[in-house]
Amino acid sequence: LIHLLSTEGLPREVITHILDTASQFVSVNDREVKKVPLLRGKSVFNLFFENSTRTRTTFDIAATRLSADVYTLDIARSSTAKGESLLDTIANLSAMAADIFVVRHGESGAPYLVAQHVAPHVHVVNAGDGRHAHPTQALLDMYTIRHYKKDFSSLTVAIVGDVLHSRVARSDIHALKTLGAGEVRVVGPRTLAPADFAAMGARVFHDLEEGIRDCDVIIMLRLQNERMSGALLPSSQEYFRRFGLTPERLRRARPDAIVMHPGPINRGVEIDSAVVDGGQSVILPQVTFGIAVRMAALSIVAGNAA
Ligand code: CP
Repeated sequence: LIHLLSTEGLPREVITHILDTASQFVSVNDREVKKVPLLRGKSVFNLFFENSTRTRTTFDIAATRLSADVYTLDIARSSTAKGESLLDTIANLSAMAADIFVVRHGESGAPYLVAQHVAPHVHVVNAGDGRHAHPTQALLDMYTIRHYKKDFSSLTVAIVGDVLHSRVARSDIHALKTLGAGEVRVVGPRTLAPADFAAMGARVFHDLEEGIRDCDVIIMLRLQNERMSGALLPSSQEYFRRFGLTPERLRRARPDAIVMHPGPINRGVEIDSAVVDGGQSVILPQVTFGIAVRMAALSIVAGNAA
């Protein structure tokens, strides 16, 4: 694995290797992540052309725990604001001896463009591009599901909300299908969960209570207003009334179902606070697992896995 750009086409053995490597970085209490010297002497450049809290910070922590030298460019204060192109930015940072670029960009495909233009020894990790892919989020989601549920083949997983604009949904569906999940469902209004998702192997539902019935895993998504035109944009109240996950609706799922969310959450829009903070929520453990999963991704693309 030279670059990590998508979960589409990523072989099952590679996904499993990343998850197994991540588990070696997590100590017995499932929380602490050990510091290891695997990327000592390597330079990791974090380039976030789009806002981020979780992905940017956990990549920063992950690279630091791997003993890399970590540089997180402040894009808003960079020469991107003066009109410097993405590829010129990459060329200049490459001249500073970058070994790995972690790239988030609002345009689908931007990390691929970067990967085509870096030297052969340089690696690119996609930290989310447009509505296309968010592979490390999907991998940490798979890690979380495996942690709580073990065997994918017996699981029914529902991905709920604004699936249309979600790079997380697409990357999750690819990873879940590759890992042999029993059933993958896509749940949302017709405008945001179109029937096209059946082509990816998902069952499509337009009724929340039907869609989450007897599910083992529910992955909630926020409305990605920044990627919507006015016609698609539902009001928050109307959306919550029809598709908000409340404790009452959660009872339709299996009693031991886990509730996930990639974040950021919008309480009272796609999910009720009582569910976010409730006993079935694993939203914060997802964030914690993200550190070990990103350590695994970085060390594997660099050819220095544990
Ligand atoms: N899940 C996720 O990508 O969150 P951030 O946008 O905060 O990185």
